[in-house]
Formats: sequence, structure tokens, C-alpha cells
Amino acid sequence: MRVRNNPKALGIIQQYDDIVLFRPEKHKGKWKEFMTWKNDSKPDVPIHAELGMGRGKFISTMGLLNKGIGFIGIDLRYEIILSALEKVLERELRNVLLLPYNILNLGDVFEISEVDCFYINFCDPWPKVRHSKRRLTHRLFLEKYRTLLKDGGRVEFKTDSRELFDFSINEFRESGFEIVDLTYDLQSGNYPGNITTEYEEKFINNGIKINRLEAVKR
Ligand SMILES: C[S@@+](CC[C@H](N)C(=O)[O-])C[C@H]1O[C@@H](n2cnc3c(N)ncnc32)[C@H](O)[C@@H]1O
Repeated sequence: MRVRNNPKALGIIQQYDDIVLFRPEKHKGKWKEFMTWKNDSKPDVPIHAELGMGRGKFISTMGLLNKGIGFIGIDLRYEIILSALEKVLERELRNVLLLPYNILNLGDVFEISEVDCFYINFCDPWPKVRHSKRRLTHRLFLEKYRTLLKDGGRVEFKTDSRELFDFSINEFRESGFEIVDLTYDLQSGNYPGNITTEYEEKFINNGIKINRLEAVKR
């Protein structure tokens, strides 16, 4: 991590308006078209979005390894977007866009059935029951993601919190998703292609097991 509470972050990220989009609503329903033009890729480019992307290790690595997919990273904080931007620039990625945006308003950014995949990596577990509606895997959120996903689209979810994971399994099942893959120990050796996030690296280094599931819209 190179930037912490950088007061200049906003000014810097504003200079890269071909990567950091401050008015993403204007692309609603046209992300495939925009990604195709920007990345010079095939017309029906899949759209994958990471919610609460953090400093961008995951999305920039995914972008590097999957040039035919359009990735959209969403996070609230400018200095975090700046860290992700540095990775996108270093890797010269044309298929990764960054949105300084609140996930609560996701429906203003994506059209119904526009998204192929959402990633939720190590979101805040909000352990108190009275805060459960804030969890990004609460059914109120899952119903929104489900609307925005195409048929057969999926959510990939990773967390260190077993409590959040168990809660989420139930929420996915109650919200019209089929869980097609699930592990309580992502480091078990059965997932050699796993791309880690910044938080994930810290948890692994502390010997904490990672839970992961993949849920498909049915
Ligand atoms: C615990 S961090 C995890 C970051 C990253 N996914 C990782 O695994 O390293 C959660 C991230 O979600 C972002 N976030 C939380 N609530 C958000 C919201 N409503 N809209 C957009 N981003 C949000 C935070 O700014 C933070 O960067």
C-alpha cells in the first residue's frame, strides 16, 4: 500500500478520466459497448464487477489474466481508488475501469441483466444482528444483484468470517441463487487458480481459513 489518507487522491484520479469514471450512470445499459470500444475486444464482452474492491490487487490481476473480460471495480474512497489506479496503470490494462461509487446505488449504474459476474471479497461482516441488513450478502442486496445479473450469471463470494459465511449461504438460497461451489478452506489445495486480495493475504498469513462460494442465478 503506498497511499494513506492522501488529500491529493481526488485530484490525481480525476486526471485519469478514461479509467476512473465519476459519472458511471451515463454508461448504464451500455457497458459492453463501452468496454468493447475501450479494450478493442469482441462485441459481447462479459462484464464482471467487484463490489468494495479495496486497493485493486484482485481486479488488476484478473484483468491481466482475462483480457477478453471487462472488469469494473467499485469502491467509495478516493485514496483506495488511487491505489487500484496505480496497479491498472502499471499493468497497462485497458479492460479495467474504476468507479468511485456507493454500492447502495448499484441499480443506477447497471441495467437489468447487464452483468455476468459480481465479486464480493472480504466485505465488512457487520457481526451485530441489528446491523445484518448492511451485510453485502443480505437478501436485500442479493435480490438487487440478481436483477442486474443475466440468467446464469453468478456471484463469487469470499470471507474470513464463518458467521457471515453461514448467514450468506442461507441468504443466497432464499434469494433465487443455486450454490454451485462451496469451501470452508480455500487454501486446501483444491483451488490452485485462486487470485487473492489484499485482505485475503493478511488473513492467510495469520493462519485464518478462507470461505468461498459461487452462486448462480437460476
Ligand atoms: C474490508 S475492505 C475489503 C477490500 C478488498 N475487497 C479486499 O479483499 O482486500 C471493504 C472495502 O469495501 C469498501 N466499501 C464498503 N462499503 C462500500 C459501499 N457502500 N460502496 C462502495 N464500497 C464500499 C470499503 O471502502 C473497503 O475498501
